[in-house]
Amino acid sequence: MAPRWWLLILFLGCSVLQASSQPNSRGFISIDCGLMGEESYVDDETNLLYVSDAGFTDTGTPYNISAEYFRPWRSRNVRSLRSFPDGARNCYTLRSLVSGLKYLFRATFLYGNYDGLNKPPASFDLYIGVNFWTVVNMSWWGSDQDNKAEVEAIVVVPHDLVQVCLVNTGGGTPFISGLELRPLKMSLYPQATAELGLFMRSRRNFAAINETIIRFPDDPYDRLWYPRSDATMWTERSTTERVDGFDSGSFEAPMAVLQTAITPLNASGSINFGWDTEPQPNNPSPGYLAVFYFAELQVLDGNASRQFYINLNDELWHNRAVKPEYLSRINLYNEFPSPRQNHYDISIKATANSTLPPIINAYEVFSVITTTNVGTESQDASAAMAIKAKYKVHKNWMGDPCFPKTMTWDSLNCSYATASPPRITSINLSSSGLNGDISSSFANLKALEYLNLSNNNLTGSIPDSLSQLQSLTDIDLSNNQLNGSIPSGLLKRIQDGSLNIRHGNNPNLCIGDNSCQLAAKRKSKLAIYIVVPLLVIVVIVSVAALVLFSLRRRKQQQGSMNNMATIKPQNEEEMPTSHGGANDSLRLVENRRFTYKELEVITNGFERVLGKGGFGRVYDGFLEDGTQVAVKLRSHSSNQGIKEFLTEAQILTRIHHKNLVNMIGYCKDGEYTALVCEHMSQGTLQEHIAGSNQSLPWRQRLRIALESAHGLEYLHKGCNPPIIHRDVKATNILLNARMEAKVADFGMSKAFDHHNGNYISTNTIVGTPGYVDPEYQATVKPRTKSDVYSFGVVLLELVTGKPAILSDPEPMNIIHWVQQRLARGNIKGVVDARMHGSYNVNGVWKVAEIALKCTAQTSTQRPTMADVVAQLQECVELEERTHDFDNGGSKNGYSSWNYNAYASGQSTDVSKKAGFGTELRMPTVGLGLAPTTR
Ligand SMILES: *[C@@H]1O[C@H](CO)[C@@H](O)[C@H](O)[C@H]1NC(C)=O
Ligand SMILES: *[C@@H]1O[C@H](CO)[C@@H](O)[C@H](O)[C@H]1NC(C)=O
Ligand SMILES: *[C@@H]1O[C@H](CO)[C@@H](O)[C@H](O)[C@H]1NC(C)=O
Ligand SMILES: *[C@@H]1O[C@H](CO)[C@@H](O)[C@H](O)[C@H]1NC(C)=O
Ligand SMILES: *[C@@H]1O[C@H](CO)[C@@H](O)[C@H](O)[C@H]1NC(C)=O
Ligand SMILES: *[C@@H]1O[C@H](CO)[C@@H](O)[C@H](O)[C@H]1NC(C)=O
Repeated sequence: MAPRWWLLILFLGCSVLQASSQPNSRGFISIDCGLMGEESYVDDETNLLYVSDAGFTDTGTPYNISAEYFRPWRSRNVRSLRSFPDGARNCYTLRSLVSGLKYLFRATFLYGNYDGLNKPPASFDLYIGVNFWTVVNMSWWGSDQDNKAEVEAIVVVPHDLVQVCLVNTGGGTPFISGLELRPLKMSLYPQATAELGLFMRSRRNFAAINETIIRFPDDPYDRLWYPRSDATMWTERSTTERVDGFDSGSFEAPMAVLQTAITPLNASGSINFGWDTEPQPNNPSPGYLAVFYFAELQVLDGNASRQFYINLNDELWHNRAVKPEYLSRINLYNEFPSPRQNHYDISIKATANSTLPPIINAYEVFSVITTTNVGTESQDASAAMAIKAKYKVHKNWMGDPCFPKTMTWDSLNCSYATASPPRITSINLSSSGLNGDISSSFANLKALEYLNLSNNNLTGSIPDSLSQLQSLTDIDLSNNQLNGSIPSGLLKRIQDGSLNIRHGNNPNLCIGDNSCQLAAKRKSKLAIYIVVPLLVIVVIVSVAALVLFSLRRRKQQQGSMNNMATIKPQNEEEMPTSHGGANDSLRLVENRRFTYKELEVITNGFERVLGKGGFGRVYDGFLEDGTQVAVKLRSHSSNQGIKEFLTEAQILTRIHHKNLVNMIGYCKDGEYTALVCEHMSQGTLQEHIAGSNQSLPWRQRLRIALESAHGLEYLHKGCNPPIIHRDVKATNILLNARMEAKVADFGMSKAFDHHNGNYISTNTIVGTPGYVDPEYQATVKPRTKSDVYSFGVVLLELVTGKPAILSDPEPMNIIHWVQQRLARGNIKGVVDARMHGSYNVNGVWKVAEIALKCTAQTSTQRPTMADVVAQLQECVELEERTHDFDNGGSKNGYSSWNYNAYASGQSTDVSKKAGFGTELRMPTVGLGLAPTTR
């Protein structure tokens, strides 16, 4: 019994560790390095949960800063730290990220005389994965009264696990006080791509009220906006009016930042500021990217005008004058790094005909970090990690196994080819005190040539899977406690001379002699007496479990259908509240009725607009428990009536499915009506398809297709009566922080009474051009097959990366466009070129075919959503098999490791892409200067 208890305890221990190292619902990871005595705490200022670093690193020593460095105003995060006296490279491992997403990384360093030596390290290096992030040079931040350094980077992560590593370069013992990770919406900072990261040089909010730093929750991405003012040069301006309009989605400065600005003191003067080049060891004069934020804060009377130019080092930065509109936002940014200079002077000057001086609200400056280094081949890397974990290897086994060459893990050899990631070719763990059996992970090292595990305490049998390693020529297993016999696969390799095995001095290992055969016979008898009855028991138990499970499921399904059927349309007074009936209690407790006042609090005075829906604006908000929500407030000018609004509220309350946007509550308070829904932080599928820089990989597109199909299938099949969405389109498919797809916006859905066989027909067609089912258009009778049609269009968008209606060269429906090309057998001409051919062609064909079936002219020819789900499921499996094959058969290879990192993209030589003047781009299409309100 005892050993089992032990296992259970171990298991619990692991899950606790896991729990604390998981990102929160927003995907934030906030680590207080060196925190001891408690697991976590909630930060007073931001209300964010900070956790200790125990689950993220297994080396280093925790310390507190000296008592004299404690300050009441200092964030708690910096009171403790972790110091790394041993080893050249020490790393933090951040898991459960979403590969291909953009993240903000922030590391904080406060020395605070933690070691009593009063000598901060001169410098050390910081890496994200295998890519250099920055030198941490404590003397650069010397002007800060206590040597606090803060570095930030915006990086697209290639895998779901990323390591942040501190490298000792001989400048003193590296340490770290805090590490924060914030997922960003994909459309933010379009300059950051798979090949280029952004390293923050400066982020300033001009004329900040009370000189405070603005961050979370004002900034939902928790960027830190530092105040900047200078009363000797600038007049401060501010407004309490809303600076409205959500910008193009590229930068999204918080409203509080845009509500303050500066103009020059001298009305005919200019605004000047600048920065020096900060050399990096690999890049002595990096080019910079700048983002400027403008909003007019004054009502200008008839004759007044404010227009200005921006100059960089006395040359025009952009050749069109900027003219901010009252209370609406403009960003100006350069897409590619500026040419290298030693100093950057920005001068903002009024145009000749401007009656008012220039204005600016905020700016950010970044240099770029190339993220094109490729770490160890991902399957090799994850196998090496697994081996390290299994045997608790304490060597320099931190970070990437093979990269950089100078830091290759001890006892490993790697091969380095120019065009492909490094591979592990030999492992020598002789005399390393290894216990337990031979890890199956060795067999995942497909390029392994030499394996030495001699002089350890290894037990168990020799895995036959080692014989699959084609390059393996030598294994040394001598001086261990191995038993069993040499497996047949290995024997064959030995006989044909392709493999040498040393296995001497394993007392229980039998090598083809009589004693061995006896042992083998005993074993086979054992097998009959023990294994067979055991198998029988297992089979019986599983069958019983299956039967029970399916019975329960059927019951549950019936249960939920009954529930659906008994919920009658209610008028507003009867809408369920949190004190709802006993039977539905669980479901209804989740749905709250809010007052308008509460909504004001939740949205911080309707501060941040996320977008516009059929009802009016959608606002960002937070519930008391920190849950991020989207509040859809009905605007008075909305065409939609109260009735439709309540229809949506009621339908949403009734429906819960992981691929449908969940309703948390609603508001019907006097003239105000609102819905409070789950927040989907990655925005709409449309934004991701149309996004110019990033492109979703095919696997992710397939997953989104399958998930949204599940959502629609549930509306059609899981609800009684079935619900027709009637406005399925890429903008109504939303993505959460983990890029999981959910169908949104049931505002136009009308449940029709299935039992009476009467379709509700209204006189108006609802839907969006390009997605509307022609049959519905003709008959004005919506059917579930109308949704299938619209979904087919979404599938085509996913395949092609093009909108439902193409405008170039002439307006054309995407269905016809695809049909024309496919008729010529030209799948390549159809598929989104931004996927660079990394997909299984058969899978893409299949999805295109499904899409064309869905968009058949007559509804009877179209599949049901259930058929679509089944077909897409097959496509997903096909794609996964393809991927496994590429990875040599491991299911884990792809998602568990970040090293294969930036392999897929071509490297970009930033130095060649010149041009402040020429490459400057407005966030809106083309070069036009346009206010970004919609
Ligand atoms: C730091 O201080 C806290 C409480 O003040 C204490 O619990 C913790 O053990 C200290 N850490 C170290 C490394 O001494
Ligand atoms: C750190 O920065 C200071 C000031 O810029 C510089 O003098 C020093 O050489 C830097 N140290 C290292 C190790 O880069
Ligand atoms: C600024 O400080 C004053 C005085 O401390 C305070 O009354 C006011 O609320 C502060 N304003 C903001 C926006 O924090
Ligand atoms: C304002 O700036 C202009 C041009 O730079 C200069 O000629 C003028 O003397 C300045 N006025 C004051 C009051 O500083
Ligand atoms: C003011 O000058 C700028 C360029 O210098 C020009 O684009 C703009 O149209 C002018 N505005 C007026 C009102 O003349
Ligand atoms: C192997 O294990 C035994 C006891 O289980 C121990 O005495 C011995 O030192 C171990 N040998 C090695 C090489 O670790």
